[in-house]
Amino acid sequence: MAHSNNPIPADPSHPRHIAVVMDGNGRWASKRMLPRAAGHKAGVNATRALVESCARRSIAALTIFAFSSENWKRPSTEVNHLMTLFVKTLATEIDKLHAQQVRVVFIGDRNRFDEKLRQGISAAEQLTKNNTGLALNIAANYGGRWDIVNACKILANQVSAGSITAGAIDETTFSEQLCLAGLPAPDLFIRTGGERRISNFLVWQCAYSELYFCDTLWPDFNDAELARALDWYATRQRRFGKIAEQVGGESSESQQGAG
Ligand code: IPE
Ligand code: IPE
Ligand code: MG
Repeated sequence: MAHSNNPIPADPSHPRHIAVVMDGNGRWASKRMLPRAAGHKAGVNATRALVESCARRSIAALTIFAFSSENWKRPSTEVNHLMTLFVKTLATEIDKLHAQQVRVVFIGDRNRFDEKLRQGISAAEQLTKNNTGLALNIAANYGGRWDIVNACKILANQVSAGSITAGAIDETTFSEQLCLAGLPAPDLFIRTGGERRISNFLVWQCAYSELYFCDTLWPDFNDAELARALDWYATRQRRFGKIAEQVGGESSESQQGAG
């Protein structure tokens, strides 16, 4: 299925696709007088638990923000540590993910990674490509603006090669060139760590996502926290520009009041 623009979910109370900005590792560590690296390590455990929760809860797709295109601006010791952690985590987790039928795809510009990490990424994608369970998209060196510019370049090349006309470009053909083409757009966007911002995550794809922010620092996020986000999501009425009566009844606010 191509990215349809504003799809109404099959079961409106259950998101098909969840996007997560896993934020707060550094502050989790600082609060414990630990180095930031300890926060990232604890964050890996929370991520593993999230993947398992989503698989168990029959979420079709999960897209997680592991490293943004702006995170290169961090001190080089932290960047190097994160790169080593990615390589190690991939190596230790991939067989289990495969056994769980998880299909792993990396989104973002992988050219900037070293050879070892690029190999780990390709091997993980190859191994799991025919799996039919949870679609796990790991955003690494990803930026929403990069994604959009990249799609523009692909389409510009197609126009100059004469394979399409500029007039044929619309939201559907455009989104087919974005990283998550083929998946429904995220229904639910979760950000932990207390900041209420997108930080250049899926800026196109989250145009109509329900935005859920919580103060929990990422390493403390667990299944109960996910359940809270899902309960909140179930109270939302997704109108996609229409009015309440057109999409089946009361507004979110009056539903909440009734509950
Ligand atoms: C998110 O946690 C993990 C990455 C960006 C890799 P942070 O490292 O941003 O943690 P805080 O926001 O400094 O607490
Ligand atoms: C967003 O978190 C990126 C990831 C979680 C990977 P940041 O911590 O980098 O975001 P800002 O800098 O606070 O906006
Ligand atoms: Mg942060």
